[in-house]
Amino acid sequence: MPHDVTLIATIAVGFVLAFLFGYIAHHLRLPPLVGYLLAGVVIGGFSPGFVADAAMTAQLAEIGVMLLMFGVGLHFSTGDLLAVRRIAVPGAILQIVTATAIGTSLAMFWGWSFGAGLVLGLSLSVASTVVLLKALEELNAVATPNGRIAIGWLIVEDLAMVLALVLLPAFAPALGGYVPAETTSGGGGSLLLNLAITLLKVAAFVFIVLFFGPRVLPWLLRQVARTGSRELFTLCVLALALGIAFWSARFFDVSYALGAFFAGVVLSESDLSHKAAANSLPLQDAFAVLFFVSVGMVFDPAILVQHPAKVLCVLALIMGGKSLIAFAIVLTLGYPLSTGLMAAAALAQVGEFSFILAGLGISYKLLPPEGLSLILSGAILSISLNPIVFAAVEWLSSRMRASPRWKRRLDEGRGPYFARLQAELDSSRLLLEKKSAAHKTFTPAELVSHFPLFAGLSPDEREVLLLHFETRRGQPGDRVIRAGEKADAVYFISSGEVEVVPRGQQGKIKLGPGAFFGEMALLTGEPRSADVTALDFSKFLTLSRRDFHRFLRKHPSLREQIVTQATERGAMNRKFLEASLPETDLSANAP
Ligand code: CMP
Repeated sequence: MPHDVTLIATIAVGFVLAFLFGYIAHHLRLPPLVGYLLAGVVIGGFSPGFVADAAMTAQLAEIGVMLLMFGVGLHFSTGDLLAVRRIAVPGAILQIVTATAIGTSLAMFWGWSFGAGLVLGLSLSVASTVVLLKALEELNAVATPNGRIAIGWLIVEDLAMVLALVLLPAFAPALGGYVPAETTSGGGGSLLLNLAITLLKVAAFVFIVLFFGPRVLPWLLRQVARTGSRELFTLCVLALALGIAFWSARFFDVSYALGAFFAGVVLSESDLSHKAAANSLPLQDAFAVLFFVSVGMVFDPAILVQHPAKVLCVLALIMGGKSLIAFAIVLTLGYPLSTGLMAAAALAQVGEFSFILAGLGISYKLLPPEGLSLILSGAILSISLNPIVFAAVEWLSSRMRASPRWKRRLDEGRGPYFARLQAELDSSRLLLEKKSAAHKTFTPAELVSHFPLFAGLSPDEREVLLLHFETRRGQPGDRVIRAGEKADAVYFISSGEVEVVPRGQQGKIKLGPGAFFGEMALLTGEPRSADVTALDFSKFLTLSRRDFHRFLRKHPSLREQIVTQATERGAMNRKFLEASLPETDLSANAP
């Protein structure tokens, strides 16, 4: 090849094979992700033929994880996060501790050291967000309370892993591992100091993102959307998702996934979040596929023949042990059976974090290489079987719903927890809707039904126009425009009624919904030609002088309509004024 095209080759071969195998898997009634994993095995280093660059695929997969988590964040508000904390925090922590303890005991039973067991146990205790999200999407359950609980649970696991990755190097020597001198941070790497710094960094990250984010990011997105350029908007969404993820990992040591998730959470408060989600979806899908390919690539099938019993033990812990633990925790906390089943299915797999932890364990000489192979085989098998677990849970739930006695137990929890969670999720949704309603005026379709004037615009143009509008309100008797003043905006009446009294006249003209006023002064550059007073509680959509002129320049046919209307109004006013002038003169000359 003329120059280095590793990246192109990796993406091209990865996409093509993932597509082919995914398509075949679909036809064999298997989940497509089994096909993607298989594509990975084929282009991986343990099978003959083309070998893709594993490190590069892993990086591309990481982009997929970032975009995916960004997408989840876009559908998740801060209120949602707070609502699920009462189950997600204790659930995730208890589950990590128990699963790690079982994993460690298992490894020590095999004769491994405590340190090796700990790394194996920790790696097997965390589930993959990508796998969970794909499953929830498939079931259309991302927005359900159970779906939110499962996602919140994984976010807490994600945070716990950030700590684990920091603590591992600090504990490695004590656990019998070896840490190269340059990786231990200054001052002998005091454990407490490291921990404090990490916690501080995570807290600072969450504070900065959640405090400054909502003040800046939605505003930025609006400004970009107002340009009307779809390309710039998509670029802005991607820049925010990847940029925040990258720099938060750089400065605050949180994972890329967590950074991207919080970027999404912040933007979820914006009324443009649905558009942002739609624009990033295709890239999200494509790169998430590479996540599965990259898992397949590093898998060595030989382990299945060499240590079948150990592989089965690992699989039993991932799919049986972890699920049972999660199930028991959820029920003990008083949540319904359906939540328990969802958590059990959601956690019956391992993924990205397990590989990172295992990789670190190997570099610190804690975990034997066989440990990584076991974790990988556990991952590939549990990921492939996960859709079946979800299908089984679905089947079980539908059977239970058929019986009245089980139906109650399935959907109702003990104690007020679930009801409270549901109420909190609902109120967070309501709050979000209210917030976005403050900005949002109409949907593009509603705009036309209220203002036939805009019927000639395309849906995209209407959406951009809507972003330029600002809402103003008037109460009965409020003077909206004063004759003789300088003009700043044009008004479109969305509801209510106003009365126009042109300068020097007694005659009153009433204008209602769908009409506009305030255009004359903007067109002529002269002061306002009339007093305009609200007669009713009224709502106006206003366009600033600059936006009005820009809009007219872009839409000459609309300009023509508005100018014609303004000319007619001007002519009418002049006629009235001329007609009333002699009378005024007479009265002025009267003795
Ligand atoms: P402007 O002069 O900017 O501010 C006052 C507005 O009242 C004016 O624009 C028109 O939109 C509106 N207006 C003035 N004269 C009439 C009229 N004869 N009929 C309806 N509206 C009018």
